[in-house]
Amino acid sequence: WVHMVTAQTPTNIAVIKYWGKRDETLILPVNDSISVTLDPDHLCTTTTVAVSPSFDRDRMWLNGKEISLSGGRFQSCLREVRSRASDVEDEENGIKIAKKDWEKLHLHIASYNNFPTAAGLASSAAGLACLVFSLAKLMNVKEDQSKLSAIARQGSGSACRSLYGGFVKWIMGKDEDGRDSLAVQLADEKHWDDLVIIIAVVSSRQKETSSTSGMRETVETSLLLKHRAKEIVPKRILKMEEAIKNRDFTSFAQLTCADSNQFHAVCLDTTPPIFYMNDTSHRIISIVEKWNRSEGTPQVAYTFDAGPNAVMIAHDRKAATLLLQRLLFYFPPNSDTDLNNYILGDKSI
Ligand code: DP6
Repeated sequence: WVHMVTAQTPTNIAVIKYWGKRDETLILPVNDSISVTLDPDHLCTTTTVAVSPSFDRDRMWLNGKEISLSGGRFQSCLREVRSRASDVEDEENGIKIAKKDWEKLHLHIASYNNFPTAAGLASSAAGLACLVFSLAKLMNVKEDQSKLSAIARQGSGSACRSLYGGFVKWIMGKDEDGRDSLAVQLADEKHWDDLVIIIAVVSSRQKETSSTSGMRETVETSLLLKHRAKEIVPKRILKMEEAIKNRDFTSFAQLTCADSNQFHAVCLDTTPPIFYMNDTSHRIISIVEKWNRSEGTPQVAYTFDAGPNAVMIAHDRKAATLLLQRLLFYFPPNSDTDLNNYILGDKSI
């Protein structure tokens, strides 16, 4: 027999960034962060997990290619979910798995991203969140989403925020064992559904410095990060929660852009400095800043993760259309530009 479960999880984009760990093994951050979960039609991972007594070892395929499962992060997630497994009864197929059997049974896992992994578009967040969610479903884990988020966190920090739709906060927590470092939903996907997300794929090359090693170097060398984590982010988190609650786009956009820029300033303050944005990213920032200024109130917020691709959040569909027109004007298709794709999506799941 084979028992299997399929789940789908969207990616999320941080508007107040997570950058820097206080514990690398448990993945505990130096500050809280807030994100927006994308619509699953656009950027998401679909994972099928299967268990069978005929499987002789755990195996996993990512986009059809087998990958190694020796990594500590994968093993931590698997161990944490397994330790919470319950009895499973699949009456339809006559399958019964007792709680104690999960220790001996092996898994086959197949995961697909509906976007190119190499494009540097936060694939680990959706991927690890989906893995933990589907394993928990397979093993009939009874814990709530927040507890599962603390497990997904151990796979990749940003993954803990992908277990909810809408607006999500990752609370950094204080406990040394990480049990209070988990995600909570601030507002659901219907709360602010005018927002439209546009992603400009500036480069589909894989990033040169991974988030994990980048943030390690920043923690070791940047004084600006210490100031950011202690003095800046706690205040920004409060303001961002307020902006989301009141659907105050002006404040939301100002905070989002400022936090993205400070994250990249912190990267520059790292020794040796880390450059994630390129000339095209900088041009996009100038175009958006100029437009927002000419309108009097911001129409679009921009944010960049550990790569040059721009994530832009437009106030509404009209602003999104005008933004696309502007981008097409400055970066016409088939011209000598490296801006090669726009993904248009609604905000949330
Ligand atoms: C810039 O979650 O990919 O996207 O925890 O080491 O797996 P690890 O890092 P990861 O870092 C994401 C960093 C970021 C900001 C954010 O998503 O908050």
